Amino acid sequence: MSVYLGIDIGTSGTKTVAMREDGTILASSTFEYPLECPRPGWSQQNPDDWWEASVKGVRAVLKAGQIKPNSVKGIGLSGQMHGSVFLDRSHRVIRPALLWNDQRTVAECEQIESKAGGRKKLIRMVANPALTGFTAPKILWLRNNEPRNYEKLSQILLPKDYVRFKLTGEFATEVSDASGTLLLDIKRRKWSKRLLSLLEIETNLLPTVYESEDVTGVLNSSAAGELGLPAGVPVVGGGGDQAAGAIGNGIVKKGVVSATMGTSGVVFAHSDEVQIDPEGRVHTFCHAVRGKWHVMGCVLSAGGSLQWYRNQLGEAEVRAAKRKKIDPYELITAQAAQAPAGSEGLIFLPYLTGERTPHADPHARGAWIGLSLRHGRSHLIRSVIEGATYAMRDSLEIIQQMNIPVRQIRLSGGGARSSFWRQVQADIYGKKVCTINAEQGPAYGVALLAAAGTGAYKNVVQACQKTITLATETTPDRKAKAVYNRFYPLYGNMYRSLKNDFAALATAVNEVY
Ligand code: XUL
Repeated sequence: MSVYLGIDIGTSGTKTVAMREDGTILASSTFEYPLECPRPGWSQQNPDDWWEASVKGVRAVLKAGQIKPNSVKGIGLSGQMHGSVFLDRSHRVIRPALLWNDQRTVAECEQIESKAGGRKKLIRMVANPALTGFTAPKILWLRNNEPRNYEKLSQILLPKDYVRFKLTGEFATEVSDASGTLLLDIKRRKWSKRLLSLLEIETNLLPTVYESEDVTGVLNSSAAGELGLPAGVPVVGGGGDQAAGAIGNGIVKKGVVSATMGTSGVVFAHSDEVQIDPEGRVHTFCHAVRGKWHVMGCVLSAGGSLQWYRNQLGEAEVRAAKRKKIDPYELITAQAAQAPAGSEGLIFLPYLTGERTPHADPHARGAWIGLSLRHGRSHLIRSVIEGATYAMRDSLEIIQQMNIPVRQIRLSGGGARSSFWRQVQADIYGKKVCTINAEQGPAYGVALLAAAGTGAYKNVVQACQKTITLATETTPDRKAKAVYNRFYPLYGNMYRSLKNDFAALATAVNEVY
């Protein structure tokens, strides 16, 4: 029996899966770590926490699945995208990594646009505008704000590629994650020499770029000892968590789109050619399928909004769930189901960490609008779920406006696990939604890439065809769909009305705190 490991370096924890060649999951484990927010809008993590969680994860799945170390034939890596790991000349981490949801780089984004000769030219060069979460502005931030640290810099890695370095000693990445740095020529699938030179960033600070299925190195003896595996196991490129999750969902051909609600929410569409939104509202990145691309919209706090509710206002549900030994989200969504579709006019804007798609506004903030005495807890929760789903619909609408076909929507993440949220998604998108047999997302996707890249399948498309099947289907409810079609345009207007106030609020907060 051949076994493939998938390791996904998430924001709240690292998930590891062990998969048999035929796609069966033998074991999975998750190890969590903290996130530092030293200032409002800042978000960072210690890369060595990722390594520690990966080591624990691999050891845990080998034990739980009773897997013989010699049967492990390949490892795939996935992770939160855009994060910046800065290494010095001795390959030590210089400072905590800035993450995808860090908003400190507003000035650097402006600097990039101006050095590139404007937003349009930048989009022509790298298919995307400069967004605060991306890696390139983080590099400039280090240069502008911590020049001493910048001087020490000898290598810049993405989160999963730091774990790859620990596993193999290689400085390598792959096209899907490299796309999110803003430094990749998306059409040619190579670093953009042009933009790098305009930004005065040396190419040798960046790792070698591979296709996602390619073997990028093998397990070295010191890592092998730590993990309890034999040295020499091939490590394939893998993918940024969104591309990897898409592979795990079988999004490998035109017309099939995924809607994933993790902390962030992503609508992801496969594309056979490079398709760019001239306004830069959705991202155009390389896919983890060789020679293909994808378009995706990213909502920064989708599941994250409900998590915020649970942590800050859901104490009663958390306590009751503990007593009943169930997941608090079960009680939270059951409570939401008590309120009618549209939450009787209560609308939640889910911009708790600013917003990426469609507004690209780091200053946007969350809000409940329309509160009245009639509204209770169930309305509050339902409106949070609806607000996050309206935000996903924004991405879906843009993708459709780009003439990318949406024939099937596959749901994954927390929003797919609850039948209530599945129904809300079908009703708000106004389309049938389905789930698949595999629930392990990006970790599963990169285990499939590892299997394909080491020869168990012809390629990853075949790996998906052989292992992924549909599990559930949910069709929109006609009445609820009509209710949401009435409220959705109002939801969009609310951001536009508040945009300037959000900016003024950010200035005031900066001055006062
Ligand atoms: C994608 C993005 C997030 C992170 C964290 O562009 O920023 O989805 O990858 O999951």
